[in-house]
Amino acid sequence: MLDLLITNATLPDGRTGMSIAVQGGRIAEVTAGLDAPAHEKLDAQGLLLAPHFVDPHFHMDATLSYGLPRVNQSGTLLEGIALWGELKPLLTADALIERALAYCDWAVAKGLLAVRSHVDTSDPSLLAVDALLEVKRKVGPYLDLQLVAFPQDGVLRSPGGVENLERALDKGVDVVGGIPHFERTMADGAASVKLLMELAAERGKLVDMHCDESDDPLSRHIETLSAETWRLGMQGRVTGSHCTSMHSMDNYYVSKLLPLIAQSGVSVVSNPLINITLQGRHDTYPKRRGMTRVPELMAAGVNVAFGHDCVMDPWYGMGSGDMLEVAHMGLHVAQMTSQAGIRQCFDAVTTNAARVMHLEGYGLEAGCDASFVLLQARDPVEAIRLRATRLKVFRKGRLLAETPAATAALHLPGRAQATSWMSRSS
Ligand code: FE2
Repeated sequence: MLDLLITNATLPDGRTGMSIAVQGGRIAEVTAGLDAPAHEKLDAQGLLLAPHFVDPHFHMDATLSYGLPRVNQSGTLLEGIALWGELKPLLTADALIERALAYCDWAVAKGLLAVRSHVDTSDPSLLAVDALLEVKRKVGPYLDLQLVAFPQDGVLRSPGGVENLERALDKGVDVVGGIPHFERTMADGAASVKLLMELAAERGKLVDMHCDESDDPLSRHIETLSAETWRLGMQGRVTGSHCTSMHSMDNYYVSKLLPLIAQSGVSVVSNPLINITLQGRHDTYPKRRGMTRVPELMAAGVNVAFGHDCVMDPWYGMGSGDMLEVAHMGLHVAQMTSQAGIRQCFDAVTTNAARVMHLEGYGLEAGCDASFVLLQARDPVEAIRLRATRLKVFRKGRLLAETPAATAALHLPGRAQATSWMSRSS
């Protein structure tokens, strides 16, 4: 007897009428039209069953702090960093934990069951590190939280930066972070990349650096990050996040850079909502979009994922943990409007993001964890267009969240009563 049998599901790859058999928290079988005894059965009614959403880039230590102690007036990255500096002395572990747990509730409701969060290691007290390690323990039964040691103030620029980051790793933080474009000089930035890469290689850690989050076309730390990845044999273990300067780079230089990133096996995480908000703020008109070259990176064979980055914090006042909103913005800013392009944007918040995090057991195949989302949509394109309702969210075979279908009851003069949820198969 199966634990759970889902029937008549559509999968992201287009297969329809599919059954997913679940036993012991894992997917036992994925096949068309299977019927078998099960403790629980769910008819998907032709709707989309997708692996859960994954956010490969977030800042959980700052989330839901919007307005504390004030709102970012200029809307720039630099005022956001300054504002975070004002907030840090006011942080308490209890309040930070309460906000992070509230955000994780939102995430689970939206089918987002794995988050890579950076945690600021600049403060020698490591209050945020201890608090997020506690959150990681608390949410472990329902959400995979991976933490990145992130020296927000610059690992070389701030006193004790390296020591604090190493202490965070000693406490159990998973991934080595960095922020080379925020170091004092380009040379210091490159030195920070080299130092942090060697540290990660020694400790056997994954790497995820904020890299070139700037409109400066000469900010080229992604080049150093890729070259160091190659030199240290860390292909597949390193991610460059943001990489917004690539938007403004010279095309000839990019034609040399893209193969270097691809050959080094470095993943790139773009954060469309935040990039379109923070970049280009020094421009008059035309204003640059500031997002990295997503379709070109993908065409070069680079694993590209989309992150949420911020929700209601010193940098961004919007957001709700909805990775379909992230994908929706991503496809607009990157002009990835073909059917194939939209599906690539869906992959950017699911499978590609899972690859960034090295998630085990991810996917919709036999042997994978039974962690998936039933969406009120007929395919990935419609899911993004509608930011579709997450009807059911399962993790390892267990139902974690349910949301009623979003359906409008129409009372139109001269028409019979009707309902609509704006579905048109694409
Ligand atoms: Fe970030």
